[in-house]
Amino acid sequence: MPDFDMVLFGGTGDLARRKLLPALFDAHCAGLLHPAARILATGSRASTTEAYLAALEESVRPGLEHAPPDAWAAFLARIDYVQVDADEPAHFDVLARRVLQRAPEVVVCYLATAPQLFAPICAQLGRTGLNHPGVRVVLEKPLGHDLESSEAINAEVARDFAEDQIYRIDHYLGKESVQNLMAIRFGNALFEPLWRREWIQDVQITIAEELGVETRGDFYDRIGALRDMVQNHLLQLLCMVTMEPPASLSEDAIRDEKIKILKALKPITPQEVAEKTVRGQYRAGAVGGRPVPGYLDERGIAPDSRTETFVAIKAEIANWRWAGVPFYLRTGKRMQARVAEIVIHFRDVPHAIFPRPLGLSPQNRLVIRLQPEESIRLYFLVKQPGDTVTLTQTSLDLDLANSFKARRAGAYERLLLDVIRGRLGLFVRRDEQVQAWRWVEPILETWRDSLVPPKPYTAGTWGPASSSALLSRDGALWHEEV
Ligand code: BG6
Repeated sequence: MPDFDMVLFGGTGDLARRKLLPALFDAHCAGLLHPAARILATGSRASTTEAYLAALEESVRPGLEHAPPDAWAAFLARIDYVQVDADEPAHFDVLARRVLQRAPEVVVCYLATAPQLFAPICAQLGRTGLNHPGVRVVLEKPLGHDLESSEAINAEVARDFAEDQIYRIDHYLGKESVQNLMAIRFGNALFEPLWRREWIQDVQITIAEELGVETRGDFYDRIGALRDMVQNHLLQLLCMVTMEPPASLSEDAIRDEKIKILKALKPITPQEVAEKTVRGQYRAGAVGGRPVPGYLDERGIAPDSRTETFVAIKAEIANWRWAGVPFYLRTGKRMQARVAEIVIHFRDVPHAIFPRPLGLSPQNRLVIRLQPEESIRLYFLVKQPGDTVTLTQTSLDLDLANSFKARRAGAYERLLLDVIRGRLGLFVRRDEQVQAWRWVEPILETWRDSLVPPKPYTAGTWGPASSSALLSRDGALWHEEV
């Protein structure tokens, strides 16, 4: 692992405290960080390293599962606080001097800030020489608000950084099961012949959360679920499920296949939005036995907000492999359970010779679960014990979390280490992002102009009834086993 300096813009923010610093700490404990590597956490306020570290003691350490005192102290010794106000060029001069003097092999500038600061920060990094070929810049989502604003940011960043220095992060790509999806598809001969329209009836991808908008109401109300989860996480998962086998694991081989899928996504026209999409907003209810308020009563939410907290979409991919196969995508906050999974429904046999009990699903199903636990389950039919051959369903289970003893890196840890090593394969290329925005924009615009508000759903359920109707029109049902 090369020696590096990581400059954490937004070092006092939520993401740094909840995800980035814990991920770096895990990598530190696993001995994966170069002994000389440093973290320069920046914030716009004047403060000291001592005060910053004391704040981490309060805000980060309690959330770490096991932080042996020695390891924690050694980790803190890597961190310095540096005041950097994006509007203060002099602050960047100081920062650049500190980094350039030490001259580590790699410099990672992680922009965990509001997207409107991406361009000004990158311009300052360029001005002060912190854009030399050893510098990599990580851009957190949301990268803009729509195609135009994201392209404006991309164009600004591209003035100072080459595309291979830019790491657009989508943390879903760092999840272990997403890597496993690639391993299942391309490491085994078993599935590939069946992985196509002839044998797959439909595919469902769900990312359901129990959480509401938490402390981010103000931010979320301007964004909504389509921008927060579909434009990035769900479409990236869709690409991983459906892309052609890449020629190698090289970063562009994978990204070239993903972009083909994004380009082949059938546009949903404004006239089709009502038929192929559902947007919902949660009302008061109970999650995990605890009463929770409705979205409109959360802090930071406009009382008449029409922001969606739930989305379901029927998507289609217009290519030879997938023509005609429905891809049902859904995500929501305050749902019945926290679950993220990909479900592949295979077609029924062409001719049934065995009696089947009523209600028995005839389909083979492959369920790849990302959360809460990682597992892969293949449902199929076997004979029920007894005189007659009557079918029943059983499953082959791979409990990935418990099958291997080795430590598993979290998504942010894996991706941060990839940035340090210069591996771009799990990051989103500019053209992918453009294409993803292109596909979601007509939906966003139609919703914006529509007089019909989002459909209400009770917190703690699987979303509005129209989400089930979206599938039942095709004779399908959401896979809802928790
Ligand atoms: C983030 C979204 O990208 O992903 C959040 O902004 C969401 O709203 C989160 O809660 C979900 O990630 P995970 O890994 O907890 O499923």
